[in-house]
Amino acid sequence: MKIIVCKDYEEMSARAAALAADSVRENPQALISFPGGDTPRGMVHAFADLVNAGEVDIARARYVSLDEWVGLSNEDEGSCGLFNRAEFLSRLQKPFLDLHIINGKAEDIEAERRALDAYIVSYGPLDVSVLGIGMNGHLGFNEDGVDFGLNAHIIPLSDTTKRVMTKYFGEKFHPEYGISQGIAQIMAAKKVILIANGAHKAEIIEKAVRGEVTNRVPASVLQNHPNCYVVVDEAAAARL
Ligand code: PGA
Repeated sequence: MKIIVCKDYEEMSARAAALAADSVRENPQALISFPGGDTPRGMVHAFADLVNAGEVDIARARYVSLDEWVGLSNEDEGSCGLFNRAEFLSRLQKPFLDLHIINGKAEDIEAERRALDAYIVSYGPLDVSVLGIGMNGHLGFNEDGVDFGLNAHIIPLSDTTKRVMTKYFGEKFHPEYGISQGIAQIMAAKKVILIANGAHKAEIIEKAVRGEVTNRVPASVLQNHPNCYVVVDEAAAARL
């Protein structure tokens, strides 16, 4: 793991965006994946700025979303798909060649899962996967206890995730399941960039980076990835 400690959220966002842009420069036909959540907002804005400034060309690149709450489409407030559209894709003045955004509201969620796998098989492996980290160490919706061998799957949300999710939905929606790229697909990415900011992430970042590799802390698996960057602000790095 290459650990990059940044002075603040803005620097974390810019560094992660620059590393992701490097992957597209190395392979203009890259398949890339960014997460939803509070952490990546600045990173996706910074990446869109690089695209719009002509510093990276995505005309031949593809984008696939990481995860979604089962029951939500990309029109629904709090969904990862809406985050993707509103914070990232709608800012791009030039589009990707192609997109695959998970629909958590699909009538046949198993078919949606298969479609996610098929997309990554067709155009993958991922050239770059940017990831946030949950308070329980989850990556996407690879919750604690997840099987590291899985590709895309539908998974019950952990109690920690259910507690944290009120920040996205208030009391309006109580999802029970997530649909997510699996650890096998994340580990097959040519580059992984884990981002985290804030003092509340310091303990889980310490466990992920310095602790035992265990599915009790899914992000710890990234210690075994050959090309993983951990880009954190000083507050999240406090225990490293
Ligand atoms: P957050 O979520 O960026 O909103 O903290 C991170 C995650 O759960 O992956």
